[in-house]
Amino acid sequence: MAGDAPDDAAFRALLDQVARARGFACGNYKDGCLKRRVAVRMRARGVTEYGAYAALLARDPVEYDHLMDALTINVTRLYRDAAVWDLFAEMVLPTLWTLRGASRFTAWSAGCASGEELYTLAAILHQHATRTGTLRQLLHTSVIGTDIDPASLRAAERGEYSADACSELPVPLRDRYFGTKAPHRASAELRALVRVERRDLLLDEAPADALQLITCRNVLIYLDRDGQERILRRFHAALAPGGVLILGKVESLFGAARALFEVVDQRQRIFRRSADA
Ligand SMILES: C[S@@+](CC[C@H](N)C(=O)[O-])C[C@H]1O[C@@H](n2cnc3c(N)ncnc32)[C@H](O)[C@@H]1O
Repeated sequence: MAGDAPDDAAFRALLDQVARARGFACGNYKDGCLKRRVAVRMRARGVTEYGAYAALLARDPVEYDHLMDALTINVTRLYRDAAVWDLFAEMVLPTLWTLRGASRFTAWSAGCASGEELYTLAAILHQHATRTGTLRQLLHTSVIGTDIDPASLRAAERGEYSADACSELPVPLRDRYFGTKAPHRASAELRALVRVERRDLLLDEAPADALQLITCRNVLIYLDRDGQERILRRFHAALAPGGVLILGKVESLFGAARALFEVVDQRQRIFRRSADA
């Protein structure tokens, strides 16, 4: 049975098959998490053996879409965990926006799923530029969203969200940038700031260098230590001096990665690239 792990070799063979078919290399994901997700799909299709499920995937490739959906866990919302965004907008962004020596402002939402975090960032930046009379700086600003899941990225490109997806978004921000009625469509000025790309955080380079901001929330939690450390080192290399990293609520730095960042706010998981690391 899936979940009891009686057949590790069959499970590994299944993951290899998924990697070959969909380019999703699962080597650094926590086993328990992967097994629970595969088990959901096996139950849905009424199979109890990994081998039988692998055969089903080969026969019915549409099942790969459902499996990818289950494996990538793309739950998200606009302004998810409101306290982080409030703190970021009030205490962190003012300094970051005027960081000396930066001619461009580039932010990266790593693991952006269907784009809610991406447009949240774009809206906060636009609001800050409006309030500080620095709208011209938006001409040199980009917010790049990357994800491994092409279906999520297509949704991010559409940028249209249900009322439920907007439930944490402050109403003035929602009305100003996403319209008063559902579906809430990201405005043209946000779209002008945003672009999305398919990238695997474990394999691919950062989409730009000298970044001012990286948000990577609710992604590292699914990975083993080695995978997390590899990605955190890549983030450190991609950030400009003084650049900021925001992780998810239950994620943190550990081991060698601690030396690469200083804590700005531990509770909200906001860190700054260490100057001397
Ligand atoms: C739970 S969502 C997080 C969305 C958003 N960051 C948030 O916190 O609301 C996790 C996302 O990470 C993506 N992901 C998982 N592994 C990835 C990888 N190796 N490279 C890029 N994206 C990945 C998934 O496809 C999924 O869309």
